[in-house]
Amino acid sequence: MFFSRNNKANLKLPNLVQLVQKLAHVHNNLVCCCAFHSDLFKQTNDHLFFSETVVPFLSRPALPALLLPSGLHLFSSNAICQSDFFKPNAIRSIVINRCFVLFVQPALLEALHMAVLQGKGSEVSKVLQGPLNYLDQSLSKGNMPYLTGVQYQNLLFSCCILYFPSVKSWFDRVAAMHSCQSAAQKVLQGKGLQGMKSYMQRQPAPRSSHCRDTQPCNSNPAEGERAVSEEEMEAAVLTWSKDLNAGPLAADRQHPILPQEGKRNILVTSALPYVNNVPHLGNIIGCVLSADVFSRYGRLRGWNLLFVCGTDEYGTATENKAREEGLTPQQICDKYHAVHSSIYKWFQIDFDFFGRTTTEKQTEIAQNIFWRLHEHGFLVEDTVEQLRCENCQRFLADRFVEGTCPHCSYPEARGDQCDKCGRLINAVELREPQCKVCRQTPVIRSSKHLFLDLPKLENQLEQWLEKSTSTGDWTVNAKQITRSWLRDGLKPRCITRDLQWGTPVPHPDFKEKVFYVWFDAPIGYLSITANYTDKWEKWWKNPQQVELYNFMAKDNVPFHSVVFPCSLLGAQDNYTLVSHLVATEYLNYEDTKFSKSRGVGVFGDMAKDTGIPSDVWRFYLLYVRPEGQDSAFSWADMALKNNSELLNNLGNFINRAGMFVTKFFEGCVPAMELQQEDKKLLAVVGWELQQYIQLMDKVKIRDALKHILNISRHGNQYIQVNEPWKKIKGGDTERQRAGTVTGVSVNIACLLSVMLFPYMPSVSHTIRDQLNAPQSCINTMLQGSGSFVCTLRAGHRIGTVSPLFQKLEVDQIEALKKRFGGQQLRALPALSLPLCQLLLLLLEVAAVNGVDPEKAKQLAQAVAEQGDKVRALKAQKAEKAVITAEVAKLLDLKKQLAAAEGKSPEPAPQKSKKK
Ligand code: MF3
Ligand code: ZN
Repeated sequence: MFFSRNNKANLKLPNLVQLVQKLAHVHNNLVCCCAFHSDLFKQTNDHLFFSETVVPFLSRPALPALLLPSGLHLFSSNAICQSDFFKPNAIRSIVINRCFVLFVQPALLEALHMAVLQGKGSEVSKVLQGPLNYLDQSLSKGNMPYLTGVQYQNLLFSCCILYFPSVKSWFDRVAAMHSCQSAAQKVLQGKGLQGMKSYMQRQPAPRSSHCRDTQPCNSNPAEGERAVSEEEMEAAVLTWSKDLNAGPLAADRQHPILPQEGKRNILVTSALPYVNNVPHLGNIIGCVLSADVFSRYGRLRGWNLLFVCGTDEYGTATENKAREEGLTPQQICDKYHAVHSSIYKWFQIDFDFFGRTTTEKQTEIAQNIFWRLHEHGFLVEDTVEQLRCENCQRFLADRFVEGTCPHCSYPEARGDQCDKCGRLINAVELREPQCKVCRQTPVIRSSKHLFLDLPKLENQLEQWLEKSTSTGDWTVNAKQITRSWLRDGLKPRCITRDLQWGTPVPHPDFKEKVFYVWFDAPIGYLSITANYTDKWEKWWKNPQQVELYNFMAKDNVPFHSVVFPCSLLGAQDNYTLVSHLVATEYLNYEDTKFSKSRGVGVFGDMAKDTGIPSDVWRFYLLYVRPEGQDSAFSWADMALKNNSELLNNLGNFINRAGMFVTKFFEGCVPAMELQQEDKKLLAVVGWELQQYIQLMDKVKIRDALKHILNISRHGNQYIQVNEPWKKIKGGDTERQRAGTVTGVSVNIACLLSVMLFPYMPSVSHTIRDQLNAPQSCINTMLQGSGSFVCTLRAGHRIGTVSPLFQKLEVDQIEALKKRFGGQQLRALPALSLPLCQLLLLLLEVAAVNGVDPEKAKQLAQAVAEQGDKVRALKAQKAEKAVITAEVAKLLDLKKQLAAAEGKSPEPAPQKSKKK
């Protein structure tokens, strides 16, 4: 693939097609060839100059190509897309409308999604088959002359290769060209694909045409589609009139929280963040924020829950930082522990205790576990070859050496683990090792070390794992990573290091050494709890009564599912092992990775400087939580979600509900006479609440959030349909109706405040303040599946209502994006690769062309009004010219609406009508 310059403005609809094609090619181990040249895009009126010819240097020059003024040939599986685009509008609209947009494009989108995000490139033919058959038939019927005219080159090239042998052979020939191969490889395996991936991750998953028969579809039944039965309505009405005060009040927390007989005792940990780094958004969503949401939720559920975390302070990284800043390691820890604390405070992470690993308790407990392991014969001694940098005069900790992975040849493997294949590595196994500090080649030195005998513990471990993973809620990635670890067979793990900044090894033969951080750090969970309460063993040596949830990013999984459990099992002290291992995937920043050194990304301490409230940050991070697959933070998307979901949907609903009470009913909740429609809404809201609870119970935090937003969408619709602002001006019945609608709405708002509490604690409080809601309303989730109860009864006086959210303006977001290095194009290295740029541009353009619900709403209104106007004019038999002008306006509005809705514009009206 090659091109010289490109012209963003001219690339539109075919982008997706091109992308899918490229991907499909990769997955068929083929490449296609295409070329772009800006000369091609020279436009005169709405025609483009191009000549169609054949490529002379192909062995069988039957390939249609564009000869560019520069002399370059544009020959491409995608030529059709481009030529469609550049042909006069009429043809373009036939082709694009009928085939792509209405029919093929959704399938292509789905295929793209499968290929890029789900790694199921080989299965794309399943989704494409139907649309292709249709297309094929249409082509053969000849009702698309333009397409038929170039059939030998065919429209959906990538797909056609699955079906049309002659095309395939052409394709194979092109694919064999060296330049194509190398170009495709570079683009599709490197950052180009990464960019595309993260772009796609931000798009809503396309509706699968065949998920019905393979797996349950993701939640998100289109609103109003779900049929509500009579029974459901009756049940909802019964629940509605229950009394929440009757239930037990969710008690205030009394420290220390200890397990209680007969309660659900939940211990929540978040992976202990490295003290020497300022955490970035990815770190924050991966552990502390996720754990916080779950903990807040658990407390709402009335569970007896303890949430602990703290900074992970030992290790060379800290020693290094100390050297850098001219402080002692202890000073560094003190300084950065405070930084972490204040960041988490700003993010409203509600730890019961936030400790640190460099404490006496840590030494005590770690050494105790060590001796227990020693006593039971689970430690073995061995001589180790270690990397030592003579230049830096020290042994190189795993994180300070980099080299080529001995398993997968990834060139940037760390000394302990390869980020590509995920396998653990012994630093000395790295090929071409380098000291990360000075880039010198380290030498190998040997010394005696202690190893945890994992093979000896393997049986016990597997038995426990079997049970824990089948009864607990382990995320899919956690199970997979663990399984693959076991499949490879366990090897003894070295638990000592030649460093200073660590927990000292108490064994006299190993006096100069400290524990390896990955042996030591997880023990931090115990020691931090011990610093919180002397009765820490009630949590940590009590597996019968305690359920342990570990939150972390996926790179932490093996240490929590294999190594640490082995330490605890081997100690034979009835330790509490993890019951639910919750691991996130990675969060990217825009189209790249967070990088402190490149200054790319938003770090915890900067978030508050943006002026965007903590709750909005939380909301967006949770909205894109990498749950099940990697995802990406994007400024533009954050603004979009803020403006559409928070402002227009959620905030709008809650504000309207409150304002109606204030304006129409003097601030007192009116009497409610439930009618069929209201009952139905109660049932629907109750159902969403149940979904939310079911998902939250399973720690599907991101999915559960969508149900909150569904409720306010239902609410908005309900208000919109019932128009209380009009009814309030009517007769008694109408006024009563306005009252019921207002009363139900404001109660939904109250329910929302509770459901929002785990996600947006301040907003949740604000809403409850505004509604002057009784304390008891937070008890709504105490009972099994939760209940939507009327908590704001008729006569209840609400407080002062005001807007909850603010719009994020484009220029504000642009400025932030600049400030935080959001210019992903420049952030990508190796941009000598112009195609990479092009791909990203295509993606951007695709985004620009994307659906815009806000705009659609406004346009729909405008279309309706204009329609009325035209009808009125016609009825009045107004002058033809006047009508024509208004009709033209109407058509234009409709076109804009279609675009904003992501639909194809309606076919151009016929001449006779248009005149
Ligand atoms: N500090 C490690 C990280 O940020 C996590 C340690 S988790 C613990 O990746 F369990 F070991 F403490
Ligand atoms: Zn060095």
